[in-house]
Amino acid sequence: MIAKKPPMGWNSWNTFGDKINEQLIKEMADRIVEDGYRDLGYEYIIIDDCWSLRERVDGKLVADPALFPNGMKALSDYIHSKGLKFGMYSCAGTKTCAGYPSSYGHEFSDAKQFAEWGVDYLKYDFCNFPVSGDAKNAYLTMAMALRSTGRDILFAACNWGMYDPSGSHGAHSYRSTGDIFDGPKSYKDLFISQVENVENNAPGCWNDMDMLIVGMHGNGNVGIGGCSDLQYLQHFAMWAFLGSPLIIGADLRKLDEANKKILFCKGLIEINQDEECRPPFLVDHDDTRKYTFAKLLSGNRIAIAFFNLAAEDQWTQNVGICFDDLGIHSESGIRLQLTDAITGEDLGIYEDSYATKIAPDESKVIIAQLIFPE
Ligand code: GLA
Repeated sequence: MIAKKPPMGWNSWNTFGDKINEQLIKEMADRIVEDGYRDLGYEYIIIDDCWSLRERVDGKLVADPALFPNGMKALSDYIHSKGLKFGMYSCAGTKTCAGYPSSYGHEFSDAKQFAEWGVDYLKYDFCNFPVSGDAKNAYLTMAMALRSTGRDILFAACNWGMYDPSGSHGAHSYRSTGDIFDGPKSYKDLFISQVENVENNAPGCWNDMDMLIVGMHGNGNVGIGGCSDLQYLQHFAMWAFLGSPLIIGADLRKLDEANKKILFCKGLIEINQDEECRPPFLVDHDDTRKYTFAKLLSGNRIAIAFFNLAAEDQWTQNVGICFDDLGIHSESGIRLQLTDAITGEDLGIYEDSYATKIAPDESKVIIAQLIFPE
C-alpha cells in the first residue's frame, strides 16, 4: 500500500527555492543516509519547483541541463542506490507557482515521463489553473494518470485545502494549508487551522500541514525570523502528533545538534508512524493557548499531548487530563504507565488523572501503556 503511514523525507523548497542542482540533491541524499535519518524512516528525497527548462521540448518537460547535467533518470538511480525514494514536483495549472511549465493538459504524458524517470512521489501544486478548466477534478485526473503508469507513485496533492482533494480524489497526502514560513506565528497558525481536519487521517490519505522548518534558523527561501529550539521542538511535536507527513526543509549539512536531536526524536516519530495509523482527537483546548490531544496507539497504548502556544505568557501553565476523557473510568481498574515521549523519562503509574506544568512554547508528549486489572 502506498503511504500506509505519513510520508517522511526531505524537500528542497523551504531552504533552496530555485537554487537547486544535481550536486545539492545528491549531497542531501548522502546526508540522509550517513547521518542516520534514513534509519528513522526519512526516505523521500523530493525536488520541488524550478527544476525544468522554461519551455517544454517536443511536448515534454525537460530537466534544465545546466542544473541537472546527467538528467533525472541518473539522479533517480543515485537516490535509489542509497535505499531512498525519489520525489518530484509539478502543478495542475499551465505554469508552476514559480512560472515553469506544468501538467495541465499533459497529465498522462507527464505521468508517464515521471514513471520512466523512476519517480516514487509527485508533489502536485495548484497555481495558474485556467478559469475554463475543471479545477474540482484536476487532482482526480492526475491520480488516474499516475495509476495508468503502473508504477507506485505517492500522489502528494498541494492545493491548500481548495476543492477538498483528499483521499476521495486519489491523493495519498493533501496539503490543506497555505505555505509555512520559518517563524513561530506561522507554525502556530497552521496548527490551529488544522485542529479540526486531522481526524480524517487514515492509511493512504494524510493531512499535510506543510514541510518542516526545524533547524532553518531564519535562513533560506521561506526563512523569516526563525524560531527558538523550544519552538522548533513544539512544531515537530505538533506535526508528528497530528499525523502530518514529516518532510524536512532545512539544509541537512548545516543542522546543529540541538535541531538534529528534534528530527531524531524517536518517541515522536513512533507516534507519527504507529502501526495502527489512528488519527488523533482533540480532548480539550483553552482558546488558542493550550491544547490537549490524544491518539490511540498499537500495543494497548495511548499517546497524550499538551501544547502551550502562549509565548507571551510570563508563567508556566497547568495542564492535565482526567482519564475519564479517554474513556477510562476509575471503576475499570485500568492504570496507566506513563513515559515522556520526548525525553524517554519514566513518569510512573497513574490511576485517574495526570497533571503537570509547561512553560510558554513548551510541549509535553506522553505515551501511556494501559495496565489492565488481573
Ligand atoms: C507553492 C507551494 C509550496 C512550493 C511553491 C513552489 O507555494 O505551496 O510548497 O511548492 O509553490 O513554487
